[in-house]
Amino acid sequence: MRLLFLGDVMGRSGRDAVSERLPGLIAAYEFDFVVVNGENASHGRGLTESHYADLRAAGADVVTLGDHAWDQRDTLTYIEREPTLLRPINFAPGVPGRGANLIESRNGHRVLVINALGRVFMNPADDPFRAVEAAIAACPLGEQADAVVVDFHTEATSEIQAMGFFLDGRASLVVGTHTHIPTADARILKAGTALMSDAGMCGDYNSIIGVDAEEPLNRFLTGIANGRFTPAEGEATLCGVAIETDDRTGLTTNVSPVRVGGTLSQSAPFA
Ligand SMILES: [Fe+2]
Ligand SMILES: [Fe+2]
Repeated sequence: MRLLFLGDVMGRSGRDAVSERLPGLIAAYEFDFVVVNGENASHGRGLTESHYADLRAAGADVVTLGDHAWDQRDTLTYIEREPTLLRPINFAPGVPGRGANLIESRNGHRVLVINALGRVFMNPADDPFRAVEAAIAACPLGEQADAVVVDFHTEATSEIQAMGFFLDGRASLVVGTHTHIPTADARILKAGTALMSDAGMCGDYNSIIGVDAEEPLNRFLTGIANGRFTPAEGEATLCGVAIETDDRTGLTTNVSPVRVGGTLSQSAPFA
């Protein structure tokens, strides 16, 4: 299988880039399955139902969230009827939605997608390692699942590395989201799991992590809020990671970073 993962979609610029470029990427590289992190798609804060529909229409088979999951209040209700929208699996027990699901690809492959939240430099959450492990145990790679994709939404590269080694041989891809800055460490671990510390964002990189630079810079310089954070509106770079898996084992045979369009240095899938 060929799978594409795209990092946090940031505001209108990110949404437009996904709508304009994702269908062409799927066609050109014959991706069987696409996961997109949508936690910042609606003005940088959460994901409205109509923006969720836009990401799905562009080709996202599954949309994941993160610490901004509930920034748009309507997500608390519509997530209940959307099996392809995932919020972190280690939120408090009983909150709306689900953190993992087995989804069938357009050509009949079964992909287990899991969204989890880290705990280093993040707000308190339940243990992400045991939560992810339980989801995989219920639906193991190479048995019930033809591929397993874990979006681990966290700040520290050490924590995402730990998740990668924890799941080596049990997942196809462990990829970080949340920092909005792509890392240069995509590789395949010894037992066949692809690991990348952060996918980067789908947003305008002429910014501070997707936000117009003026106000965050002001806050670093003065410590005084002088306005709101607003998403930068220049052309977005689509950032993420592409993998090819062995159809028999579900393990990864090829991994490459993806950066398309906008101002960031470019990297095509499987280049
Ligand atoms: Fe984000
Ligand atoms: Fe986040």
